[in-house]
Amino acid sequence: MPSLRSERESVVSLLEDYPQFSSITDLGSGWGGLAEILAENFPERSIQGIESSIIPFLCSKLKNHRNVNYTFGNFLSLPLQSHQAYVCYLSPEAMIRLRKKFETDQPEQGILISIAFSMPQWTAARRLQAASRLKTAIYLYEF
Ligand SMILES: C[S@@+](CC[C@H](N)C(=O)[O-])C[C@H]1O[C@@H](n2cnc3c(N)ncnc32)[C@H](O)[C@@H]1O
Repeated sequence: MPSLRSERESVVSLLEDYPQFSSITDLGSGWGGLAEILAENFPERSIQGIESSIIPFLCSKLKNHRNVNYTFGNFLSLPLQSHQAYVCYLSPEAMIRLRKKFETDQPEQGILISIAFSMPQWTAARRLQAASRLKTAIYLYEF
């Protein structure tokens, strides 16, 4: 299920406070809707999307924004980088796998913004409520 516009706007407002991250990666970019909003709001930054489902991945490629690159694959098999902003909207089970990935790769001095689901055992540096009917929580972690 793609994120809602108001959830994406909350992600954008958090990222505005972190201009030092010139590269933003959507872990599980789906149909590319979130990456597209990030590309429009941050034309000077480089946006990456990684997606493991072929149909959404191919559709996202059609959007063809100048500053977005989509990769087909499992983000768990790619190394997490330091000095990066990551965004995600994943299931609670996927968040557990992502936490283990962070423990293994140990990237430093970056941020992770998660829509709806918190990272187990991590303490959020900031937390917003999206202006949607669902009032979805948006978590920001500094690592
Ligand atoms: C809820 S959708 C969110 C899509 C987009 N980020 C958004 O906010 O609209 C989650 C996406 O993550 C993808 N995904 C889940 N685990 C993944 C993994 N390990 N590697 C790559 N993609 C993954 C799913 O296929 C799905 O398309």
